[in-house]
Amino acid sequence: MSNLIPNKIEFHLGLKKPIRILQLTDAHVALADERNENMIEYSQRARRVFFEEAKCPERDPIGYLEEAMEYSKEFDCTVMTGDMADFNTEKVYDTLKAILAGKDYLFCAGNHEFTPKPGIDSYELKANTAEFVQSHFRGNLFFESRIVGGVNVVAADNGYYVWTQEQFDRLKAEAAKGLPILLFTHVPVHPHLKEADWFRQHARIPGATEELFELSAKVTRYLSEEPLFKGFCSGHWHNNAFIDFDGKPSYVLGGLFKGIVGEITVD
Ligand SMILES: [Fe+2]
Ligand SMILES: [Fe+2]
Repeated sequence: MSNLIPNKIEFHLGLKKPIRILQLTDAHVALADERNENMIEYSQRARRVFFEEAKCPERDPIGYLEEAMEYSKEFDCTVMTGDMADFNTEKVYDTLKAILAGKDYLFCAGNHEFTPKPGIDSYELKANTAEFVQSHFRGNLFFESRIVGGVNVVAADNGYYVWTQEQFDRLKAEAAKGLPILLFTHVPVHPHLKEADWFRQHARIPGATEELFELSAKVTRYLSEEPLFKGFCSGHWHNNAFIDFDGKPSYVLGGLFKGIVGEITVD
């Protein structure tokens, strides 16, 4: 564990035997080859920007990811919370697939997983790219859950900030299982997401609808009110942070491109 920078957090849920979860987020792997020639120069620039933002760390994002996946063997469960890719070239996804092959993890998508170039996002692009992106990973990038030592670990995509009706139904189905839930998402779960107005101002991705904003605020209020949702873990901000979500802990983990990994103990 030489180059990784652990961010240790704890949830106290009254378990008989503690469990440990490794969280990884925001690796922003930025690679391109002749298959996406128009992205080669951009990818070099992006790598420089992330390298400088990370204050010239010891490793590149791929080195950190390889090291983190080796380290993940010491944990009961590994969850990736999106933006593992900076954009969706073949080279990025071939590389991630090779590193993650045969590994066990949950992975919820971020906002970067579906974009051909950062800054270009739309629901149509996401729908058209979803199958290609998913084909490189195990599990389900949009919603997955697993019971680990009596805790229901749920990983769900809110990379465009919003929640869909299908996800809402699945969140309620998870609560019906009756176990304490830790919810992993890309975008931090925050009290401001209880208001549809916030989405109107900040989530105007082409294809978004007023219905989606209203629904997303409603789902956030449900996450606040349903007692079985005990805590939240996310990424997207690239720095470690803590949010008081109506009295529930919501932790934001810094980017793996800086070497940061989340060591979560639940007892
Ligand atoms: Fe990110
Ligand atoms: Fe993000």
